[in-house]
Amino acid sequence: MLLANKNAIIYGASGAIGSHISRAFHLAGAHLFLVGRNKEKLDAFAATLPDQQRVDTASVDASDENAVKKHAAEVVEKAGSIDISVNVTGVFHIQGVAFADLSVEDFMFPVNHYIRTNFITAQAAAKHMIPKKSGVLLSISTPGSKLPGTGFMGYGLACSGIEALNRHFAGELGAYGIRSVCLRPDAIPEAIAAGSHSKEVFAKASAAAGISIEEMLAMHAQSGPLLKRLPTLEEVANTAVFMASDHASAITGTVANLTCGSQVD
Ligand SMILES: NC(=O)c1ccc[n+]([C@@H]2O[C@H](COP(=O)([O-])OP(=O)(O)OC[C@H]3O[C@@H](n4cnc5c(N)ncnc54)[C@H](OP(=O)(O)O)[C@@H]3O)[C@@H](O)[C@H]2O)c1
Repeated sequence: MLLANKNAIIYGASGAIGSHISRAFHLAGAHLFLVGRNKEKLDAFAATLPDQQRVDTASVDASDENAVKKHAAEVVEKAGSIDISVNVTGVFHIQGVAFADLSVEDFMFPVNHYIRTNFITAQAAAKHMIPKKSGVLLSISTPGSKLPGTGFMGYGLACSGIEALNRHFAGELGAYGIRSVCLRPDAIPEAIAAGSHSKEVFAKASAAAGISIEEMLAMHAQSGPLLKRLPTLEEVANTAVFMASDHASAITGTVANLTCGSQVD
């Protein structure tokens, strides 16, 4: 089992991507510390996992520095270490508004959430990983980190920022044996079906085009990715397991390109 005896905190664990990564980590042997704001949602998901001895849940706002630090300390007290910290939180934000009409609040909202929470969660874990001289930080972005397209300036900047933070985490922490990897999937149709906040985010663009979100993603799948399809939740979760495992021990400071070829290096 790739993650046997590893303790993993997953922020955003009740979400479409977070729940798939959490399940895959669990099946790979990890002890899970699942985090979100809504504990009921977390507990409902946690109850579906086979080994309840290896699952804990906590309601923590990832943008609250003190709450995240307190929770991280509680995890270490209970489990002895934080081996993996994953930030896959996601929040509704405005897309589809032209630059000339975009308010500074709507522009800054995703930047604030994603940059603030990634800084806070990584730092809280790093403090406990440094003395152990090992650990893995995982984050998530989208192709928006590189695209010049219209209507997602704030979110695009947030994604570029997450990838920049990933490089800095790797640079600051490499000497302590701590790795940092960002996952960059293209849009995942299954996530929309699973109730992801991205459904509401994409609603404006699909309404403007006069088609459903599913049709919009199907058109994108045919025109963008070299593989003529979009990534699955399982593919993202399996990559997260690999990147978090010792099989990826030489990999740090990089972005795992899960775009099915809609972006190439
Ligand atoms: N969906 C896609 O197609 C796709 C593709 C590529 C990348 N991504 C990225 O992947 C991430 C997750 O997307 P998703 O589709 O899985 O989203 P989702 O299903 O809407 O899940 C979001 C998760 O984040 C948690 N969360 C939100 N704010 C939080 C906070 N302040 N503190 C703690 N937890 C918080 C939510 O739980 P609570 O509300 O209970 O806190 C929920 O568990 C996002 O960053 C997104 O940009 C998504």
